[in-house]
Amino acid sequence: MDAISVIRTKRDRGELSPEQIDWVIDAYTRGEVADEQMSALAMAILLNGMNRTEIARWTAAMIASGERMDFSSLSRPTADKHSTGGVGDKITLPLAPLVAACGAAVPQLSGRGLGHTGGTLDKLESIPGWRALLSNEEMLRVLDTTGAVICAAGDGLAPADKKLYALRDVTGTVEAIPLIASSIMSKKIAEGTGSLVLDVKVGSGAFMKNVRDARELASTMVGLGTDHGVRTVALLTDMSTPLGLTAGNALEVRESVEVLAGGGPADVVELTLALAREMLDAAGVGDADPAKALADGSAMDVWRRMVAAQGGDPDAALPVAREQHVVTATASGVLTRLDAYRVGVAAWRLGAGRARKEDPVQAGAGVELHAKPGDEVTAGAPLMTLHTDTPEKFDYALRSLEGSFDIAAPGTAHEATPVVLE
Ligand code: URA
Repeated sequence: MDAISVIRTKRDRGELSPEQIDWVIDAYTRGEVADEQMSALAMAILLNGMNRTEIARWTAAMIASGERMDFSSLSRPTADKHSTGGVGDKITLPLAPLVAACGAAVPQLSGRGLGHTGGTLDKLESIPGWRALLSNEEMLRVLDTTGAVICAAGDGLAPADKKLYALRDVTGTVEAIPLIASSIMSKKIAEGTGSLVLDVKVGSGAFMKNVRDARELASTMVGLGTDHGVRTVALLTDMSTPLGLTAGNALEVRESVEVLAGGGPADVVELTLALAREMLDAAGVGDADPAKALADGSAMDVWRRMVAAQGGDPDAALPVAREQHVVTATASGVLTRLDAYRVGVAAWRLGAGRARKEDPVQAGAGVELHAKPGDEVTAGAPLMTLHTDTPEKFDYALRSLEGSFDIAAPGTAHEATPVVLE
């Protein structure tokens, strides 16, 4: 077998054989297939696609490239959630402790932000002392003692995906449904969760810009999970507007804590509860009431224990950026659109995200929103506050916010996009 013949098969719109797939993933993981060869193959897959049989084999080969975790020693059923990525998507933070408070164990392997989408680990690292990197034993201990753990995937889990994802990121080959589905599902299946809820984002701030593509991605991932014995369901949720009122690391932790304290923005609460119900159902503890666990403080208790178990101080003050800049409404009326992608790019440019994997992020940077679509705004009143430690970035962020919102005449009726689309 050789890389060139595998590339040619896909370049010429052929179907990759199981042997070709197993060989290329294994040889790439071992370094025998070069990055430039894998880049060419990834581009051929992006352009020519893969059928469900190829995707299933590709996913199985990525799982087999590393270790599999085993949670069978836990006394509770496991449930995990994965979001395909968005702007202001801090849902994992309140969701994991909430579902744990309702009786499931939540092994939440999470990622870092890249580009305009935020990453759960970057957000949590704004809590002084909190550690994302845990050994497998530590992870199991935190999960067993607190009911939830949010941490980075160890190096041994789907190493083929680690290499391939980094390569796709710099070769314009991220947005391919077969590659996204196999990337996400190989990690989740290797992680060993018993059930999985997928939050497939749709809209300007998401990888999937329209419902048709999101459905295709969702059904591909649900099929992969189900075939591997993981009870998998997917929700399609809106990402045309940022979730909540914050995009940025510490800003989003603060908002998540508000949700755990029984407050917080309505859309964040709604999506957290919807995903919690799906996770509890999938885990077989569907009679628990997540709204009650938010209201009575039991989810907050799990959050505090989980943060402390990973070295964080749940009472520590969160970092605040050194400089602020207020963007004001240009007219009085009804805010009818606030573009998730543009707000995400602004937060990223202010320092909340990174341009390259090795870049540091600023804990306090990001965008705070003072209005959401449907709200009445007044000319000259604050619409957003930009936060950064590096004020020279304000101009750059402001440019990405050009055209990011529409204000219609006062009293204009606004039809809100539902948070959960399907
Ligand atoms: N998240 C992943 O883990 N992989 C992708 O390909 C896209 C989003």
